[in-house]
Order: sequence, then structure tokens, then C-alpha cells
Amino acid sequence: MSYHVPVMLDEVIDALRVQRGKTYLDATLGGGGHTGAIIEKGGSVVAIDRDDDAIGYCKSHIVGDVTYIKGQYENAVELVVGAGVKSLDGAIMDLGVSSHQLDDAERGFSYMRDGALDMRMDRTQEFTAYDVINGYSESEIADVLYRYGEESFSRRIASAVVKARQSSPIKTTSELAQIIAASVPYRKGGHPAKKSFQAIRIEVNGELKGIESAINGIFGMIERGGRLAVITFHSLEDRIVKTAFGALATDCICPKSFPVCVCGHRATAKPVGRFRPTAQETNVNPRAKSATLRVIEKL
Ligand SMILES: C[S@@+](CC[C@H](N)C(=O)[O-])C[C@H]1O[C@@H](n2cnc3c(N)ncnc32)[C@H](O)[C@@H]1O
Repeated sequence: MSYHVPVMLDEVIDALRVQRGKTYLDATLGGGGHTGAIIEKGGSVVAIDRDDDAIGYCKSHIVGDVTYIKGQYENAVELVVGAGVKSLDGAIMDLGVSSHQLDDAERGFSYMRDGALDMRMDRTQEFTAYDVINGYSESEIADVLYRYGEESFSRRIASAVVKARQSSPIKTTSELAQIIAASVPYRKGGHPAKKSFQAIRIEVNGELKGIESAINGIFGMIERGGRLAVITFHSLEDRIVKTAFGALATDCICPKSFPVCVCGHRATAKPVGRFRPTAQETNVNPRAKSATLRVIEKL
């Protein structure tokens, strides 16, 4: 089984206008699909991932000029500069989880596979899905499910979880998926635990917290004419990227109620576009279906 099928690969490589001898940041290495394609075009890559599995896999599968860094993209500037790279000619962020993380039952990300309640992208982190499910109060669980999963039955599910854990802690993905499935009425649109699992994963990994600062930091390192491409997989991520890109591409960012500009902010970016995968790609790789690619260019 492949580690991860890269999403919107041709669109990303076209958008970045990869050139021989130039340096690109892949802030979400995963299975190295985007990194590999940049290398093939003659670029060199600084690659970040918080998951040791991704770094290990790519080190043994990619041949070329890649500097690997274990870390989080919210610290990209520090990590890239620390690796001796002062500026970038472009960057890609492909947000969320890899297929490898989802498909490996042991990682505990999937409601389809039985594993321990884990969901950590970085397995050196202590905080796991077990801590959320067995340690959070009923209202905290409901908030997580509502905020990060947009789950309309968040309260019912939280109540069922708290009731179930009274006899003994909930330890596995299958147990949790069953509790969720039994607590919500039938509805169309996938497995009843899909939204809750997304929400818990986002909470465990603090996924939404670092996106905006990562975009600003990484974009600040990109040379004039260079581009930043970001792929998102759900509306919560996409909203953050859209807002961050909008602010970078706008002169004044004062509240609309201000009669005159006091911020002095000047646009440093121009929007290149928003792209969706082709039907051809989603037929072959259904995981691409919810992807949105946004691209901006440094002025
Ligand atoms: C969708 S996959 C990337 C797939 C990759 N583009 C490819 O084509 O193989 C996302 C990767 O980003 C990593 N990741 C998620 N959040 C991160 C963060 N805050 N910092 C660094 N890596 C992160 C995950 O561990 C995962 O390996």
C-alpha cells in the first residue's frame, strides 16, 4: 500500500513554477509526493513534518537534495533558518493527516479500524485522544465536537461518552465509534462517527491553532515572485487560509467602521487563484474530493 497519494500534484507544481536550483519548503512532508515532484524538476527542498514515520519513510524513498526537519510548521521560520536557509523560492502546505496515518490502525485515527485511542501525529507528544475522551468534561467534549467537527449532535454524543466511561474508560476507536453510532439518529453523508473523529483529531494535534502564524512566517521568507500554495480538506481549515491570504493581499486591514486607515498595512501578496481537483483525480483518489488549493504570490 502506498504511504500517501499526493493531492493536486500537477496543480501544485504548476503553481509553484518550480525551477532548477531554487529552494522550496514542503511544510507537510507526509509521503513526500510534493517533495519528490519538486526534486524531479531540479529544485531542492527543505521538508518539515511532525511525524517521525513520514521523515523515516521519505529518507529511505526519495533521492535528491532534501533537508529533513522533524518539527511543526508553526515554527517553520526558526527551523528553516536553523537549517541554514535564509529565504525560499516557494512553499507548499498540504494540511491534515496522511493516508498512512489514517490507514495504520495502531495510530488510532480511524473509526473504520480498531486501535488504541491515540490520534497523535507526533508520537512523542503525551496528550492523546484517550485523554480527550476520558479526561474532558461532558461540556468540553461537546464543545470540541461542535467546534472542530461541526457535529450537530455534539451534546448527545458527549452525554453518551460520559455515561459509557462511568463503568470503565473508553480505550479503543471501535468502542468510541460504536458509542457514537448508537447515540445519533441515522443520517446521510458517511459514517456517524466521521465528524467526531475529525474533531478529536484536530483537538489532539491542535491542528487549527498554528495555520495562520505558519502562513505568515513562511510567506515572510518567500522571495519576490515566489509563491505559497496551501491545500485544505475541510471548511474550518479553508476559512483560516482564505482569511490569512486575504489579509496578506489587502492594503488596509483596519476594522470597516474606521473612517480612515490607522494600520498602515500594505499588501505583500497577490492572489493567484483557488483550485479544485479534477473529476479524473477524484475518481482515482476519493480522498482528494474535499481538497481546495489556494495560491498567493509575493509582490
Ligand atoms: C496530507 S499529509 C501531506 C502529504 C504530502 N504532501 C504527500 O504528498 O505525501 C500532511 C502531513 O503533514 C503533517 N503535519 C500536520 N500538521 C503538521 C504541523 N503542524 N507541522 C508539521 N507537520 C504537520 C502530518 O504529520 C502529515 O504527515
